[in-house]
Amino acid sequence: MIPRLPTQTSHHPLTVEAVRSGLKTERFGRTLHLYDRIESTNTTALGLAEQGAPEGTVTLADSQTQGRGRMGRHWISPPNVNLYLSIILRPDGDPKRVGLWSLAAAVAVARTIEQTTALPARLKWPNDILVHAKKISGLLLESAIQSGRVKHLVLGIGLNVNITREVLPESLRASVTSLREELGRELDRIGLLQRLLEQLELQYRFFQIEPPHKVMEAYAALSETLGQTVTVQLPDQEWTGNVIGLTPEGALILEKPDRQSMIVHSDDVIHVRTANAARD
Ligand code: BTN
Repeated sequence: MIPRLPTQTSHHPLTVEAVRSGLKTERFGRTLHLYDRIESTNTTALGLAEQGAPEGTVTLADSQTQGRGRMGRHWISPPNVNLYLSIILRPDGDPKRVGLWSLAAAVAVARTIEQTTALPARLKWPNDILVHAKKISGLLLESAIQSGRVKHLVLGIGLNVNITREVLPESLRASVTSLREELGRELDRIGLLQRLLEQLELQYRFFQIEPPHKVMEAYAALSETLGQTVTVQLPDQEWTGNVIGLTPEGALILEKPDRQSMIVHSDDVIHVRTANAARD
């Protein structure tokens, strides 16, 4: 059962006008659907994308009742404190390369955190953003493929902004944090969201014109996973080895102690644990 969470208040409620004013994007967030309470912004965005919503359409919620994470996990989404949003993307591309978009998005989230707060954000493959080794943000990329091409993507982002430790379930306190916990002060969610949408649009454009290895380089520079010894938990087995690189599709290349290299695809991964790190 999902625990009922105490609520927190924040000084600036999200409004469409507040988000739009001062937003310096061309397309991202220009069509904006804001909900007080919704099941999941990803589910709503997938529906809107099916109905032909334009690229860059954002669904944003103050709280989610069934926020979704990877592998069917629940994403804690209490009201007034964090950012829960999804963006519709319509890249012209090969479905095999879809995973690269979430790497590009992870770079955008990390840069937003660094630029707005000066906190050091790092990336844990496949789609976690960490601050001081604790998870602060997660991405959920869902895709619709038709006739072997990408029809649309929905990129969901959960970013812990003002949630406090006490509001988190005890089981997550060792491995999860928020900007407020790290900075010791509350942050304005609106300004943060605007900078996030700007960075996402920038990375998205960059990725459309640059070759994939440029995205990989940007990701690698922020990666906490590359070069580490990790244990990867898959549905029916576990592998431990050194992470020696990423494939052009964004999968992990793991070298096992017997020197055999394994390719690990993000869709198959339940957990990635670095030696001594807390479980996510
Ligand atoms: C993960 O770390 O497992 C991914 C978490 C993604 C959570 C976000 S919150 C906004 C969007 N709507 C959802 O239901 N999930 C994503």
